[in-house]
Amino acid sequence: MTMRVARKRPAAAPATAGPVERGHPGAALELRGIDAGYGPVSVLHGVDLVVPTAGVVALLGPNGAGKSTTLKVAGGRLRASAGSVLVAGDDVTRTSAAKLARRGVCTIPEGRGVFPNLTVSENLRMWTYRGGVGRADIEEITYGRFPKLGQRRRQVAGTLSGGEQQMLAMSRALSTSPSVLLLDEISMGLAPLIVAELYEIVGQLAAEGQAILLVEQFARTALEVATWAAVMTHGRIVLEGRPDEVSDAVLDVYLGGGSGSGGSGDGA
Ligand SMILES: Nc1ncnc2c1ncn2[C@@H]1O[C@H](COP(=O)(O)OP(=O)(O)OP(=O)(O)O)[C@@H](O)[C@H]1O
Ligand SMILES: [Mg+2]
Repeated sequence: MTMRVARKRPAAAPATAGPVERGHPGAALELRGIDAGYGPVSVLHGVDLVVPTAGVVALLGPNGAGKSTTLKVAGGRLRASAGSVLVAGDDVTRTSAAKLARRGVCTIPEGRGVFPNLTVSENLRMWTYRGGVGRADIEEITYGRFPKLGQRRRQVAGTLSGGEQQMLAMSRALSTSPSVLLLDEISMGLAPLIVAELYEIVGQLAAEGQAILLVEQFARTALEVATWAAVMTHGRIVLEGRPDEVSDAVLDVYLGGGSGSGGSGDGA
């Protein structure tokens, strides 16, 4: 298998920034004209979004805008009422979340999805049962990328810090060599220093060519690793561009034009 051992390098976005043409085979994930909601409540209205094969797309916007809902549709956990979802050019609109996961669309689950009563090493072993990757490989990959987890391999996951649990959840995702990684606020509830550490890893993954769609409250942090940014309000993408092009407007949306309580836009 391909080894993804940690290499120390600064978190930096790859040079291959920017969007790809709609329907371009270079898209790892594409949402076309997505409408979605919950029962009678419609949340997303005609959402178009492209995640290039080696791109990191940051989806930003105020609370309640529909960011998590977008990730649910992308990961097959919520069915769109209109529009289509494409993975590597194939229409997967009606594909279940489990099948999409096997196609490499990987969500870091809310609540992080680790087994709290098992040790770090036992958690890793659980994931080898799904096949594909052996125990030695997964340990090498994980402890290479997250030395902290190596030091804590015999500690039960439930007693890890929030940041360490997030690292373990990310290890799980990466053990499957995903074609696209969906990250919904990995910084939730974590101290800024830990957030910086996690985003260092996200930056490394980006530099290695991992396609990522990320939702983040810390707009500035997200824009540092992103190659493309989309701003959503009221279930619509209202602005898209390279991070440097949108960063000022992003703060405006958070501070002024957003719905609900809005985020601080940047917790830093
Ligand atoms: N399971 C659900 N049932 C009904 N309504 C829901 C459900 N989940 C989300 N919503 C509603 O859909 C809208 C969009 O929610 P969503 O979680 O996608 O927003 P978000 O942009 O991720 O916000 P936040 O930044 O606060 O996480 C909100 O009005 C929310 O109340
Ligand atoms: Mg959300």
